[in-house]
Amino acid sequence: MSEFNYHQPVLLEEVLSFLPLKKKLVYVDMTLGRAGHASAILSNLSKGSVFYGFDKDVQAIQYSKKKLSQFEKKVDLNFVQSPYSTAIDFLKNSGLNGADFILFDIGVSSPQFDDPQRGFSYRYDSFLDMRMNQDQELTAYKVINTYTEEQLNHVFRDLGQCENYHRVVKAILETREKKPIETTYQLVDIIKSNLPAYELKKTGHPAKQFFLGIRYEVNGEIDELHMGLNKAVSFLNPGGRIVIITFNSEEDRIVKKIFQSVSKPKPTNKYLPEEKEVLDYIQLTKKPLKASQKELETNNRAKSAILRALERKRKDER
Ligand SMILES: C[S@@+](CC[C@H](N)C(=O)[O-])C[C@H]1O[C@@H](n2cnc3c(N)ncnc32)[C@H](O)[C@@H]1O
Repeated sequence: MSEFNYHQPVLLEEVLSFLPLKKKLVYVDMTLGRAGHASAILSNLSKGSVFYGFDKDVQAIQYSKKKLSQFEKKVDLNFVQSPYSTAIDFLKNSGLNGADFILFDIGVSSPQFDDPQRGFSYRYDSFLDMRMNQDQELTAYKVINTYTEEQLNHVFRDLGQCENYHRVVKAILETREKKPIETTYQLVDIIKSNLPAYELKKTGHPAKQFFLGIRYEVNGEIDELHMGLNKAVSFLNPGGRIVIITFNSEEDRIVKKIFQSVSKPKPTNKYLPEEKEVLDYIQLTKKPLKASQKELETNNRAKSAILRALERKRKDER
């Protein structure tokens, strides 16, 4: 098992505050990580509850299985190495009809970032990997060394939201003609030497958005979020809740849109007969929640965390 296992869960108190009142629950954790949220949540559940924990990363599953085994007498524990886009299909095939609490804490965990072998971070010199699921074929190396100019433009412009990517892409194409680009530091050098001076003076690492774009591409993160969240919304039991934590405004925008589409009345047209719209869901967070000052003092990862929560109305509320 990896020596990198420490992950401090973000917005933990806020997540716990959204647990439904009944204590016997079907709880689905879509992003198990090191089971930080899951162990706190399972401590709050009563006998007869059912738990499913999903993660793409086998190390996360192995570690969490051990950590959560203390709850096996009171909760039916299930662990699945799978992307969360197919988690709901898996649950349906397992005979489950709905869930009472679904948690998404998306992105990469501290152990993934902190392990230089995983190639997620520009802080370490390592092979360009960035796979959450280490069995999959697509790596950051393949993206950088085999993608066409147009594909690389898409990765940096649309996924990474990079402003000055053209020269970087040209330099990647030229460099790899001579020799493959293998490591994170090689890529950081190319990025730094092809950005305008004003970009280098901005706060934050100049390679941050480039690395984010590659990570999104390698792990299909944006499609995962759309598919996983939409399916989860329709899998909630009446009275059930989804809590989702994202880490930048792009991700939050997707969540906001999906939640609004099921909870906000559509604008009415005064020239058409009035229709009574029945909306099945309510947003529990009118504005997204952010970490408190107290949490920020001890957990730097919480700085960019954004939490939203949604509830499926009970039948008597509709
Ligand atoms: C921020 S960490 C979760 C940390 C966890 N809440 C905890 O307290 O330990 C995100 C985890 O989600 C996993 N992950 C990210 N995207 C995923 C996806 N589409 N499907 C399944 N797992 C995913 C990552 O491998 C990582 O372990």
